[in-house]
Amino acid sequence: MTTDPWSVRRLHAVNDAQIDALAGVLIDCVEGGASVSFMHPLTRERAEAFWRRVAQGVAAGERALLIAEDAQGLCGTVQLVLDQPENQPHRADLSKMLVPRRARRQGLGAALMRAAEATARECGKTLLVLDTANDEAARLYERLGWTRVGAIPDYALLPQGGLCDTIVYYRKLGG
Ligand SMILES: CC(C)(COP(=O)(O)OP(=O)(O)OC[C@H]1O[C@@H](n2cnc3c(N)ncnc32)[C@H](O)[C@@H]1OP(=O)(O)O)[C@@H](O)C(=O)NCCC(=O)NCCS
Repeated sequence: MTTDPWSVRRLHAVNDAQIDALAGVLIDCVEGGASVSFMHPLTRERAEAFWRRVAQGVAAGERALLIAEDAQGLCGTVQLVLDQPENQPHRADLSKMLVPRRARRQGLGAALMRAAEATARECGKTLLVLDTANDEAARLYERLGWTRVGAIPDYALLPQGGLCDTIVYYRKLGG
């Protein structure tokens, strides 16, 4: 029996209400200073446009999109980029792991990662790769058994400006 206040599921199609909620989560993370491809301020229009492109990838089977929901609504998300070059069919990139500030530090990030790894296995993937500029996320990945490859200095801009490193990780999914 689970006592978690949230549930995690995979979306195979993304509706307008989910686009709206995902945009809210992304905006919250950027406002909080997360380096997740966007500069501050992230408008709702740009955030929704991003999720509409993701939704197209989901519909095409190129991406797996997971969401977490609690009593207040959508409270986290993570993606697997399944569509890879023909010589890397066993690999996926893990991307856009986002938990809004209101839902952090309760174990939801760990739950999303475990669900993403299970989904990757279901999709026949045996190797996952990600990179992160977030120290808290890096601790989470290492706790869950991901292997640190190394840091790339000055990889991206923080949302408010200023360069940050990114750390590359991989995880081999056994049997
Ligand atoms: C990184 C991120 C996804 C982590 O999500 P989260 O839900 O807070 O993750 P967890 O709750 O599993 O773990 C975070 C911390 O809470 C702690 N924690 C977990 N459950 C807890 C509980 N019940 N009580 C107290 N602390 C708890 C964990 O031990 C961990 O501690 P640490 O930072 O000291 O190592 C979230 O901070 C986030 O979305 N950040 C912005 C976006 C971003 O940078 N994403 C990563 C892109 S690669």
